[in-house]
Amino acid sequence: LNKANMEHMVSMKDFSVEEMDNMMELMTYLKQARRDNAIPQLFKGKSVGMIFEAGSTRTRVSFEVAATLLGGHALFLSPKDIHLGGKESIDDTSRVLSRMCDIIMARTNSPETLDGLLEMSTVPVINGLDTRFHPTQMLADLYTIREHITDGRRLSDLTLAFMGDATDVCRSLMLTCAKYGMGFKQIGPKKYHMEPEWVELAESFCKESGGHIEITDDVDQISECDVVYGDSFYWVTQMDEKEERLAAFMPDYVITEELMAKARPGAMLLHCLPANDKEEVTRGALESEYSVAFDEAENRLTAQMAILVYFTHKHAVIPTEETI
Ligand code: CP
Repeated sequence: LNKANMEHMVSMKDFSVEEMDNMMELMTYLKQARRDNAIPQLFKGKSVGMIFEAGSTRTRVSFEVAATLLGGHALFLSPKDIHLGGKESIDDTSRVLSRMCDIIMARTNSPETLDGLLEMSTVPVINGLDTRFHPTQMLADLYTIREHITDGRRLSDLTLAFMGDATDVCRSLMLTCAKYGMGFKQIGPKKYHMEPEWVELAESFCKESGGHIEITDDVDQISECDVVYGDSFYWVTQMDEKEERLAAFMPDYVITEELMAKARPGAMLLHCLPANDKEEVTRGALESEYSVAFDEAENRLTAQMAILVYFTHKHAVIPTEETI
């Protein structure tokens, strides 16, 4: 990607810890403003064009509500509504949206589509999930973990276990945890382990941050983890592999109450949702007091408010009269 820098949001690997901290500081400010029913209209008169090649509940609703709460507007653009990649090239779509919208948010079925949008866009492009990364999810996840650590530990004191396959969320968590000096373990069958080039990149971040990465099929390593993270064992494009995947992951890698009891004392459960409580996580675990999955989902809105402000106010942490 020749434009994957902080002017766009493709992956958290492109951001420094300071930049991510700034966005989370903005999240705190906006979350409190929402509680106080006093959200500053920092997106007034602005629009975010939201391209969704795939379905979404959280990402779609959170961006749309965030734009509204901040005084702006969100446009839902599915492939059947616009000409993207059909009658019109991705380049031209990007150029046109750039002239009308202040931000483009895209959930794409391929990295090439996102890269094409980035290539020609003159406004920030936010990756709302492609097959590689899910950066907006990362902000909500880190923030949720921080919110629920009340004993003075920092992110760098924690180890996160991702239970499952080398998904976009798994890759994003590994790279983000590495930036923050956290421990990260992908725990799942060998066949579904993270590609070595991404592990190498994460390890290069760990050299600076003090983090550590482990890719393992040993479920007992959960005993070293403070955060247990769940995700579906297959994506919608992998339905033909569903039975094979379920056979590989179940029952050993399912997040159950028994598994959570083996994690470190006080361990919390996150799940990016949607969850299948007959597969990767049990309803009992998801509804337990240590589960913060629905706080995490709500923080998608907190994150999207911050992202809309951050990318339209030249990265100002807390906007002032001068920066608005
Ligand atoms: N976690 C997540 O991205 O949810 P949606 O697919 O509902 O947007």
